[in-house]
Amino acid sequence: MELAYLNGWLGSLEEAHVSVNDRGYNFGDGVYEVLRAYDGVIFALEEHLKRLESSAAAVEIELPWKPAQLKNITEDTLSKSGIKEALIYIQVTRGTAPRSHSSEADMLPNLLVTVRNIIEIPPSLYSEGVKAITMPEFRWQMCNIKSISLQASVLAKRRADRAGAAEAFFVLPDGTVTEGASSNIFIVKDGVLLTHPADNRILSGVLRHFVLKVAESLEVKVRVEPFKISDLMKAEEVFITGTVAEVVPVVNVDGKIIGGGQPGPLTGLLHQGFTSLHE
Ligand code: PDD
Repeated sequence: MELAYLNGWLGSLEEAHVSVNDRGYNFGDGVYEVLRAYDGVIFALEEHLKRLESSAAAVEIELPWKPAQLKNITEDTLSKSGIKEALIYIQVTRGTAPRSHSSEADMLPNLLVTVRNIIEIPPSLYSEGVKAITMPEFRWQMCNIKSISLQASVLAKRRADRAGAAEAFFVLPDGTVTEGASSNIFIVKDGVLLTHPADNRILSGVLRHFVLKVAESLEVKVRVEPFKISDLMKAEEVFITGTVAEVVPVVNVDGKIIGGGQPGPLTGLLHQGFTSLHE
């Protein structure tokens, strides 16, 4: 059964409620993680909890829970749900207080953990690939923080949806492609795998990290450095990574065909390599 844990309370998602004074509700003042469980085992729980801690520290939310407590709460909610193939969401907001931009009032962070059934991803996503669009980067300067303030990403996805695309890639004024609205981007150029460095311009994705590890183990040539929109349009392969859909080939950007319009061989190899990490 799909379950929500909220500040010590456990029950159905429909019954879980936060106050209208929750700062996440009023200000998007919080941080989050999205995780997956494969066959009842949470993938990379430690990596996700580390990133949650560093996001919280970056937005000056002091977590009252030790990493071991967060781990127990998350694993316990999963195990009580009985769901094996799960999508897990962890959200921490600064707390509950009458709405004021100032956050000086005494408050304790609100912790929400939800466990749901993973939505099956159609196999055609991998065998056929997806379309993407590009758009000017209009987010803030701290994209390394997994903040729940996601208005810009939502607008980017709406633009992608309208164009019949699965993802929108952000492009800086100098032509550098940073990442997708909810994914990291990789390209293959002259046989070399390229992805943007994990700085303030991107979220350092957990899947990105593991794909780089798989690439290393396969002795793929990798350069973690910025690349331009002109490189993207001429790439041999393009793919995106994220916890939910893992590794997804991109075969069309802004209406132009990439890599002959077919998912590339390295994309498939890296996805296979990732799959073997949790089988
Ligand atoms: N998003 N970049 C951005 C901006 C993201 O929002 C995400 C994930 C990623 C990939 O991160 P990871 O590999 O750790 O999932 C990169 C999640 C899944 C979401 O917001 O739902």
